[in-house]
Amino acid sequence: MFDLILRRATLPDGRTGIDIGVRDGRIAAVEPDLQAEGGEEIDATGRLVTPPFVDAHFHMDSTLSYGLPRINQSGTLLEGIALWGELKPQLTQEAIAERALAYCDWAVARGLLAIRTHVDVCDPRLLAVEALLEVKKRVKPYLDLQLVAFPQDGVLRTPGGLELLTRALDMGVDVVGGIPHFERTMADGAASVKLLCELAAERGLLVDMHCDESDDPLSRHVETLACEAQRLGLQGRVVGSHLTSMHSMDNYYVSKLIPLMVEAQLGAIANPLINITLQGRHDSYPKRRGMTRVPELMAAGLTVAFGHDCVMDPWYPLGSGDLLEVAHMGLHVGQMTGHEAMKTCFHAVTRAPAKLLHLEGYGLEPGCNADLVVLQAGDPVEAIRLRAARLFVLRRGKVISRGAPVECRLSLPGRPETVDFTLPRPKFQ
Ligand code: FE2
Repeated sequence: MFDLILRRATLPDGRTGIDIGVRDGRIAAVEPDLQAEGGEEIDATGRLVTPPFVDAHFHMDSTLSYGLPRINQSGTLLEGIALWGELKPQLTQEAIAERALAYCDWAVARGLLAIRTHVDVCDPRLLAVEALLEVKKRVKPYLDLQLVAFPQDGVLRTPGGLELLTRALDMGVDVVGGIPHFERTMADGAASVKLLCELAAERGLLVDMHCDESDDPLSRHVETLACEAQRLGLQGRVVGSHLTSMHSMDNYYVSKLIPLMVEAQLGAIANPLINITLQGRHDSYPKRRGMTRVPELMAAGLTVAFGHDCVMDPWYPLGSGDLLEVAHMGLHVGQMTGHEAMKTCFHAVTRAPAKLLHLEGYGLEPGCNADLVVLQAGDPVEAIRLRAARLFVLRRGKVISRGAPVECRLSLPGRPETVDFTLPRPKFQ
């Protein structure tokens, strides 16, 4: 007897007609034709069932603030940072928490059940830190929120920056962040990487830095990040976010850099929606895409995730918490249209970020948390193509969101009455 059984699911690895039995909040069986009863049964015939989406890179302290106190007219990264500076003095803890909770509702409805969010620690009041620690507690039953202490204005460039960042960690922020390319000089940038990695090593924390979010091919802080991870024994615990300068780097230099990243088991996070809109702004034509070298990093064996970064904030006016939209953009920008490459883009918003966040109990094997999403799609590529509807979202074996399938009714002589854009497949028995 199971609490719940999902019947005849298709799994991301291509297995079809699989029953998933859930007991006590965990996956207890994954096999065809499970001979048992479930307290509740969901017919998932031909539908893709996946562990939840995971966003490895987000800014929840600024989300849904679009237009406050004004709109980013140039749309550039630097005007966005200036605008955030204007908004900061007006922020209240309640408003940050309210917007973050509203975003978490969207996330759940999108099957996005784990988010690593950076939180700005350069405000001496640390309002956003307090607000997001509270939100983390509130959403814990349905969403895993991981916080990164992010010195938006530079840990060395900001007076008292290191104390503020350390105070945020003392308050319970999980991960050490940084922004070396925003420090005053290259030397300060490198010094900040060293300092922050040492702090993480001392405290046994993970590292995730905004690193080289620039079109400058000589912005090479990722080299220092890899070197420090290796020196301090932080292999597999350090992530470089953005890494957009790698797009513009000389190929010869990259042929040295990628093996250094492999040696350090550095994780990489690209943010395709943001990279394609913010990078290349100083170019006339041709305009660079700016996304880091995703297929090459994956081919080297590194774990690469796609993050959303921003939704309706000073840097980006669009978005709705849909990681399939993120994967769709990443696939296009990275020209990853080969069949295997497309599947990899699905992994880049599911199992790859789960690995970078060190999430426990993530997956589809017996013993994993029964956190599952049923999609209106037959496989991972179709899920990306359609940004498929989330029909059921389960957390610890309980349905926490239901969505209606997309279907249009046609009035055409001699043609079907409905279309749903999925590819017709043979029906399962
Ligand atoms: Fe970011």
